[in-house]
Amino acid sequence: MARPHIEPFVDRDVDFKKMTLPGFPKGMKYKMLSLDTDSGACSMTVRFDAGYRQPPGMSYTEMELFILSGSVQYGDKVYGKGHYFFVPAGVSMPAMSSPRGAEGLLFYNYGEPSFLESDVDHPRALRDQLIVVDAYEGLQWKVANFITPSVAPGCMVKMLRADPLTHAHSLLYCMTPNYWQDNISYHDCAEESYHIWGTSSMMQFGDLPTGGYFWRPAWINHGAFASQLGVLGFGRTDSSLHNYFHFNPWSTPEENRERAAAQIRRNKPNLYKWIRSPDGHNHPHDFEYPSYDYANEDAQADANAPELYVHDHGNGEAHVHERSSPGRKGGKGGRKSRR
Ligand SMILES: [Fe+2]
Repeated sequence: MARPHIEPFVDRDVDFKKMTLPGFPKGMKYKMLSLDTDSGACSMTVRFDAGYRQPPGMSYTEMELFILSGSVQYGDKVYGKGHYFFVPAGVSMPAMSSPRGAEGLLFYNYGEPSFLESDVDHPRALRDQLIVVDAYEGLQWKVANFITPSVAPGCMVKMLRADPLTHAHSLLYCMTPNYWQDNISYHDCAEESYHIWGTSSMMQFGDLPTGGYFWRPAWINHGAFASQLGVLGFGRTDSSLHNYFHFNPWSTPEENRERAAAQIRRNKPNLYKWIRSPDGHNHPHDFEYPSYDYANEDAQADANAPELYVHDHGNGEAHVHERSSPGRKGGKGGRKSRR
């Protein structure tokens, strides 16, 4: 199950709890921002108490850490606010400490938080994907031109990580004072944001102040939108971000999804028809990335499909399939380390 829609949430309204999962040293506290209760994947605000120390170690799932305040020391290097870490699953990080304490955002993307003491990488760890960057001092603000169609002028981004296969991304973004956008948007990806500083106002969800957070699944209407003094935020998506703009505040997520599919059918008719035909059970395969596991995701989608479902071969001849129809393919294996 994917994470539920959480919006608005303000982490300043709740207290830190002690992290008590096995492997984590004492002195780490957390506020849960969003959680996938099946996989344990989650986003948290975390606090490392002054004097916190943890040995060299790795996580079983990829992890992201953004330092909001204070500083942490990995090995002999000190990283203050604005530093961002993307640590692939199984990559061993040096001993970490925080002599004066720190707060940050911590994300575990495919499984529950885990820490295994180890000074060597797991044999399958993708160390070349490790990212450590000073987002405040080491990167320039750029126009958010990777988002299509574009958001209103005044939104700038610093791209921290973009997954080359899924186009999931993590970024720092800002909005200038008096930023506004008068239309409504939704996406076919999940969208997540934390306000490091500033307040914005969303027509459907009200004000989101400093410390505000949302996890917004696909197809949820959001906007119109405005910010009087501007915003500095940390944002993520789980795949490519496309803005489906419109001006209908009453459309439902189901209608939004159907509208998005209709756009694909108009704009990419050949691809759409292949996916839908000859019997709707085509599965993608990329010869360039043969190990990417689509079958497992397709099998999960099939398992969640209704007992009977209307089905059209792309030629307008719709009919009804049963779940047990021949040709439904199962999958096997776990998903690769991709968000
Ligand atoms: Fe959005």
